[in-house]
Amino acid sequence: AQKEWIEVTYQKADGTSYTVQGKEGDNLLDVAINNDLDLDGFGACEGTLACSTCHLVFKKEDFDNIEEMCTDEELDMLDLAYGLTDESRLGCQVCLNKKLNGITVKVPEGVADARTA
Ligand code: FES
Repeated sequence: AQKEWIEVTYQKADGTSYTVQGKEGDNLLDVAINNDLDLDGFGACEGTLACSTCHLVFKKEDFDNIEEMCTDEELDMLDLAYGLTDESRLGCQVCLNKKLNGITVKVPEGVADARTA
């Protein structure tokens, strides 16, 4: 069966937002890259859990629909992110599923690249 497109809106701190589509199973770093989004410094480690630049903030109701568990490695990285919230995840660790269709995720203003911090 064909995978369905899932719509995601990335909202930057300056108010700019991009609404794009990804496939089920794509992570939120892939989606940003595939759509060539202008997100400064986002995804610096290319999804290897070595930075925290792919930090995204979800709405509470969407956060609960994320299928991937937050691992200790991810938590350690998140601790280094600016503006950490209870609904924060690293975009490269979150894959799209149907329940996430139509979500808006916030891209925090400051990026902290753990490799240079
Ligand atoms: Fe570096 Fe996600 S891209 S941790």
